[in-house]
Amino acid sequence: MKALLCKALGPAQDLVLEEVASPSPKNNEILLQVHAAGVNFPDTLIIEGKYQFQPPLPFSPGGEAAGVVAAVGEKAGAFKVGDRVMALTGWGAFAEEVAVPHYNVLPIPAGMDFTTAAAFGMTYGTSMHALTQRGQLKAGETLLVLGASGGVGLAAVEIGKALGARVIAAASSSEKLAVAKAAGADDLIDYGQASLKDEIKRLTGGQGVDVIYDPVGGALFDQAVRGLAWNGRLLVVGFASGTIPQLPVNLALLKGAAVIGVFWGAFAQRQPQDNAANFRQLFAWHAEGKLKPLVSQTYPLAEGGAAIEQLGQRKAVGKLVVAIQ
Ligand SMILES: NC(=O)c1ccc[n+]([C@@H]2O[C@H](COP(=O)([O-])OP(=O)(O)OC[C@H]3O[C@@H](n4cnc5c(N)ncnc54)[C@H](OP(=O)(O)O)[C@@H]3O)[C@@H](O)[C@H]2O)c1
Repeated sequence: MKALLCKALGPAQDLVLEEVASPSPKNNEILLQVHAAGVNFPDTLIIEGKYQFQPPLPFSPGGEAAGVVAAVGEKAGAFKVGDRVMALTGWGAFAEEVAVPHYNVLPIPAGMDFTTAAAFGMTYGTSMHALTQRGQLKAGETLLVLGASGGVGLAAVEIGKALGARVIAAASSSEKLAVAKAAGADDLIDYGQASLKDEIKRLTGGQGVDVIYDPVGGALFDQAVRGLAWNGRLLVVGFASGTIPQLPVNLALLKGAAVIGVFWGAFAQRQPQDNAANFRQLFAWHAEGKLKPLVSQTYPLAEGGAAIEQLGQRKAVGKLVVAIQ
């Protein structure tokens, strides 16, 4: 099979397309014939050796995929050859085949194509867990989403609306905000132009926002935390800016506020029933047309490195997908 390989840690342009042996699924794994693979921020880190875990070299990046089951291990649950499935792979999805433990695989609902399915799991799974189990977002509350045109950010905008919240989308340019607006955001903040802190104040009449969804960190976190309402919840989702912020905890005290960590991968592993319930709701919303995953660009496998580069350079909107077969 063909695979895009990281043979030495380094930039995305160093990835090479090669012919390699097909993986053999273990007892608890299925072999997935990959049709499409989603691109996510961790792909930018894993090829540079900067992610939470590091596969041995050489490896293919690609943390999620959609395709068809090509083989099933003896203890890999009820999957059958030919099933259309989406999978969290961690890495390895930028290849024609990948082996995945059965508990990281979900059937693709009828009516969802492979490209959409490859762009769905990581972002909607993360944002659903963040806003429900972690943020306890309620209808009528105000949600602020930072990096609102990015993968997890745009999913948070849509889920926030589906949950009945007023959604304020914040991003670094008017082009990116137009994408968040089209996804249903009620109000917009261009933090490339204006002060995030002042705009939160203006849009909430000085009250602040109930929930902040922050996949960016850095200086934006410092401003956002000052815009939390009484009883507010700040969701720590990621650090796309590259800087892990520090919190003066007196701010949490003064606002009766909570700073809450979000780690969807661990949640999905530790609370699989709750994760499955989240996906039942997400698939229902998708079928009702309340969620419209945006795939802004697709790339052939040989150009998967360009897709990772685009994301790492802050140029992607919505999701990028590598179309494999
Ligand atoms: N906690 C979890 O369970 C979980 C799960 C999935 C992802 N994540 C994390 O969430 C973050 C976002 O992931 P994603 O896949 O949604 O990425 P993405 O599509 O690239 O979106 C990230 C957004 O961050 C903003 N940003 C600010 N500074 C940036 C920089 N220096 N480089 C790139 N983007 C920058 C950009 O928006 P503006 O230009 O508008 O600022 C961009 O749209 C990552 O840190 C990822 O690791 C966490």
